[in-house]
Amino acid sequence: MAENNPLNLLIPFIGVRIKYMSDLLKLGVLISGNGSNLQSIIDHIEKGSLKAIIKIVISNNPEAYGITRAKKHGIPVVILKNGDFKNKEEFDLELIRILKNNYVDLVILAGFMRIITPTLLKAFPHKIMNIHPALLPSFPGIHGQKQALEYGVKLSGCTVHFVDEGVDTGPIIIQSAVQVFDNDTEETLAARILKEEHRIYSQAIQLFAEGKIEIKGRKVRIKTET
Ligand code: GRF
Repeated sequence: MAENNPLNLLIPFIGVRIKYMSDLLKLGVLISGNGSNLQSIIDHIEKGSLKAIIKIVISNNPEAYGITRAKKHGIPVVILKNGDFKNKEEFDLELIRILKNNYVDLVILAGFMRIITPTLLKAFPHKIMNIHPALLPSFPGIHGQKQALEYGVKLSGCTVHFVDEGVDTGPIIIQSAVQVFDNDTEETLAARILKEEHRIYSQAIQLFAEGKIEIKGRKVRIKTET
């Protein structure tokens, strides 16, 4: 008889779990390399300072160390090799399929070394974030830290921004500045900046999770409590 079915006892608990999980912001994290930003997001989630869940990690590089990091924490990983697709569009269509299948709310580019197509942007409007190792709009593109050193700036830093159709041009959410010292090398400056990246990326994601980010044109306003 239905009322004697032991499964019935489990149903309320399953319900609680489904509700609990659906309250969390669902992330899809795209990586190509070391994955230290991915690690820092995992750490913030595990210590409770970021109310989100990483549903899927996608890497376009089968050798990326970030894959090992994700697996260590039981996060599903998909590898999409650039060369397996006819063009960028086909690659992004597969990305979209995977992200949508995982009900991803926000796409996180964390050292993802690929320009994304308008098709992906349209599928996740104002729902793709990136982190850049310089104070945008200065030094966009690759080697932001090296560009800053060579230019001779006294301050550099990092920027979390929404992705638009340009290269590192989207609306800025949070920036953090660090000092540049006379004896800095690309490595020492990158390490100082990376520490800030790990702090502000999760902070920006948490603001998004709390619905505190308002975008007007190219400006982002962080709503504060009244
Ligand atoms: C970071 O410096 C990030 O700003 C840039 O690529 C690097 C990725 O580092 N987009 P990691 O793979 O997260 O360690």
